[in-house]
Amino acid sequence: MSKSASLTDSHCHLTAAQFDDLSDVLLRARAAGVEAINVIGYTLEHSLRAINIAGRSDGLWATVGISPHDAKDAPADYASGLRELARSSRAKVVAVGETGLDFYHLISPKDVQIEAFRTHIELAEELNLPLVIHTRDAFEETVNILNELDAPAVGGVFHCFTGAPDEALRAVELGFYVSFSGIITFKNASVVRASAAVVPDSRLLVETDAPYLAPAPKRGKRNEPAFLVHVVRELAKIRGRQPDDIAAVTTENAQNLFRYSG
Ligand code: NI
Repeated sequence: MSKSASLTDSHCHLTAAQFDDLSDVLLRARAAGVEAINVIGYTLEHSLRAINIAGRSDGLWATVGISPHDAKDAPADYASGLRELARSSRAKVVAVGETGLDFYHLISPKDVQIEAFRTHIELAEELNLPLVIHTRDAFEETVNILNELDAPAVGGVFHCFTGAPDEALRAVELGFYVSFSGIITFKNASVVRASAAVVPDSRLLVETDAPYLAPAPKRGKRNEPAFLVHVVRELAKIRGRQPDDIAAVTTENAQNLFRYSG
């Protein structure tokens, strides 16, 4: 990748305890060409912390949401908490989420996840912000709820996509973006690579999901935004393109979806 390539990490968790060296992490990200980073909230507290981190410098943005894993522990009035956070930091909050359904891990009961997902969609519509969606072993249920609540009107991204090509194309048909992580560099991920080949340029995003899912050749280490270059290179290889092209396309798409300003 050329030195001038500008990359966007559409999804990472810099509020995690593993980032006790955040200043160095951010310097390495910049040195690697990662000029925009979405810091994703997954509880009320981490949504606030994401906003605080986003306030540290240009190119850092935040989302507010309660993840499906954390939905079971959310306070009863979490929706008003998220609304307040988004309204009071309008310039830095670029999406609602991560939210969605995870019927693979089932850390929160299904009904609790579904209720929280619906609440997040309504909040996104009220705030006119896109959605950051996590879905695992629940694609049909996710799409049904998105359609029922008219979520394509606000749009969003299926983050850390792990589904099959037909599901990726259905997400695209719904008007959503599809984001690929370091999973595409894993040996056993041929289905996800097939999905990464079929999403049209105009709907493609990349992410690290750091500190999780470090891409090869960093697999097993703590992930960080600087490692996004490995995701972009693999995606370029899958699509028969130049890494600079993939960097440019995914950065432009992130700007269009998240409407970064300033
Ligand atoms: Ni995440």
